[in-house]
Formats: sequence, C-alpha cells, structure tokens
Amino acid sequence: MERIRYFDHAATTYVKEEVLEAMFPYFALNYGNPSSIYGIGRQNKMAIEQARKVVASVINSKPKEIYFTGCGSESDNLAIKGVAYANREKGNHIITSKIEHHAVINSCKTLESEGFRVTYLNVDKYGKIDLNELENNITKDTILITIMTANNEIGTIQDIEKIGQIAKKHNVYFHTDAVQAIGNLKIDVEKCNIDLLSLSAHKFYGPKGVRSFICKTRNKI
Ligand SMILES: Cc1ncc(COP(=O)(O)O)c(C=O)c1O
Repeated sequence: MERIRYFDHAATTYVKEEVLEAMFPYFALNYGNPSSIYGIGRQNKMAIEQARKVVASVINSKPKEIYFTGCGSESDNLAIKGVAYANREKGNHIITSKIEHHAVINSCKTLESEGFRVTYLNVDKYGKIDLNELENNITKDTILITIMTANNEIGTIQDIEKIGQIAKKHNVYFHTDAVQAIGNLKIDVEKCNIDLLSLSAHKFYGPKGVRSFICKTRNKI
C-alpha cells in the first residue's frame, strides 16, 4: 500500500501502536461487560477505573470526575446543556465566543430556542476574546462561560487561566472545549478553575469513539 503523508492532525491522528497493543486484549480476550458480576467483567471494570485515573492525572482532576463519552460533540453538548438545565432556576444566561466549534455553537443555539440568552463574544484579528468584554457581560443571570482552549481552525490559544479566575470571582461555571489542546498543552483544571472540560482521544494518537468529559461535582451558583 502506498503511504500517504497526512498533515491534518488537528482533524484526527492515527492510533499509535502502543495504544492498539494496550487496547487489543479488551476486544479479543477480556471482552466482558464491566457491569457484570463475574471475573471477565470485573477485570474490565478495574481497567476502566485505571483509565479514569490516567486521564485524571493528565489534567490534575479526580478520577470520579471523569466521564467517558462517544465523541467530542457529545461532551460539549453534555457540559453546556447539563449546566443550563440543572441551573435554569438560578439564571438563563450563557457566555461563549463567535469562534467556538459547532458542537458548542449549536448547543447554545438550541438553548436559545428554549428561552436561554446567549452572548457570543467577538474576537480580535488573532482570534482572542477580550477579557474585559467577558467580565462586563456577566450579569446576575449568568450561569456558564464556555470558551474553547485552542481553536481548531486558526490555532488561537485563549487565556483559560484568566477566564477561570473571572468565572470563579463571579461564581459562574466554566467549561472549556480542550479537544484541540490536550496532548499538546499542559492543562491543570484546579489551577485554571475549570469546572467542565471536553477532550478527545483521536486528536492525540488514541482511538476514535473514546472521548472524555470532566465534570467537577461541586455546586457553584
Ligand atoms: C475544538 C473541537 N471541538 C469539538 C470537536 C468535535 O469532536 P468530534 O468530532 O469528536 O465530535 C472537534 C473536532 O474536530 C474540535 O476540533
């Protein structure tokens, strides 16, 4: 087979051999249902818990805060709609930017059609949001700020540490779509006050169909 040279690793990456090797037993040998009570299932439950610990250690989270989803879009939907529906009684305002991935923009559009108010922040010529504009748009109804860590088309990296500080100061949930960042950038969810974070294995040599979603359990508003 002729080898192709594939440069669009922002779209996806190949699965590294060591990843395939680590995964192989769970497809061919230990394929039990992790929710079952017998050995072959319980072993897999332990493997899932181990994977949770590994993901948590990468972003300085706690294993119980890691949820596995089927795709990055599912993680974004779950984060944004989850916070919105759970906090509807406390406020109906969400702040995002105009250059988010469709999974974020379309989640926000759906919420708008259901009565939520969404502010779409402008970005400058480098794709950066203005932190003063972000803070000035927070009202007593604001429940969520959702700003991506790194942009999938122009590569802009937002100042998520400062965004996290603003969210903390105003007691607002902070979600970041870090699908393009994890694997390339070190992110510490504690240091950056991130409440919810979406990441995606296939962007850094993992398999497609395995994404994670980090959700802290503390109540904010
Ligand atoms: C920034 C960003 N968010 C979310 C997604 C959605 O991921 P998925 O295709 O796994 O649903 C992508 C995919 O390219 C992305 O680049």
